[in-house]
Amino acid sequence: MNHQRLSGKVAVVTGGARGIGYGIAQKYISEGARVVIADILETGPEAAAALGKNAAFYPIDLRSRADIFTMADTLAGEYGHLDILVNCAGIALPVPTFKLTEEQIENVIAINMKAPLYCCQAVGHYMRRQGGGSIVNISSGNSRMINVGRTPYGITKGAVNLLTQQLGAEWAMYGIKVNAIAPGWIETEMVKRPLRNGFLDAKKILSVSPIGRFGRVEEIASLATFLACDESDYIVGQVIFADGGWSLGIMPDGLDFVREYDKEDDQ
Ligand SMILES: NC(=O)c1ccc[n+]([C@@H]2O[C@H](COP(=O)([O-])OP(=O)(O)OC[C@H]3O[C@@H](n4cnc5c(N)ncnc54)[C@H](O)[C@@H]3O)[C@@H](O)[C@H]2O)c1
Repeated sequence: MNHQRLSGKVAVVTGGARGIGYGIAQKYISEGARVVIADILETGPEAAAALGKNAAFYPIDLRSRADIFTMADTLAGEYGHLDILVNCAGIALPVPTFKLTEEQIENVIAINMKAPLYCCQAVGHYMRRQGGGSIVNISSGNSRMINVGRTPYGITKGAVNLLTQQLGAEWAMYGIKVNAIAPGWIETEMVKRPLRNGFLDAKKILSVSPIGRFGRVEEIASLATFLACDESDYIVGQVIFADGGWSLGIMPDGLDFVREYDKEDDQ
């Protein structure tokens, strides 16, 4: 029999209307969870509907702290328990630092940094009362690998890592497990759009990728499942880099040297 690792669990996935969050929602449902997608996207209801009866959509602009707390109260009332929170909503903002406006900076901080903290507080409150839960924060490889021209993104993702460490340490005694995933380059709109319009160069990105390819949403979703289920219960406050080795920091085209030498073995 197929063992479902999240059977009976209720999960809230922010930013789950598309991309990585959607992939996580899909995987969680296949593992037996009921999932609430919390997103601002207009196509959210259809996205949830496509996932079947165990998915629901909760429309929210996560920049509002009050709305986050209302969401947690509403969902706790509706479902009776909240077992998993995935903080996945996020935006990237490629603008050189001298050109950044206050509004742009505040916006990224509100979505990427404050919203995960408030969601942790709001949903964590119910997790504590029920004796535990799992929180998975979606950080970024850019919390370690500096991507110039993306200062608000980098600093907010760095803050997500520290949030994970802070709460991992503070809430372990409540049975609330807090960890994070720092994805590398995953094929979603966030990456495909700049690749299409020439803002990013696939060849250059892959020249510093030991695995030599972009990541798949399913690869992040399976790690998010592991971190949500009890198989990972001894992992506390950790940030796991799922990036094909990119954050190891190899030199551009550095692998060519090994490839050349290793050719000798083929002869
Ligand atoms: N794609 C990548 O390569 C990559 C790499 C590292 C980290 N990440 C992180 O993974 C997460 C998901 O990225 P993605 O590639 O799936 O991006 P995406 O743009 O496809 O999805 C982001 C989701 O967040 C939602 N969202 C944005 N602002 C919101 C708000 N104010 N209120 C509610 N929802 C809001 C969007 O509507 C969208 O559904 C982000 O936190 C991103 O920083 C992505």
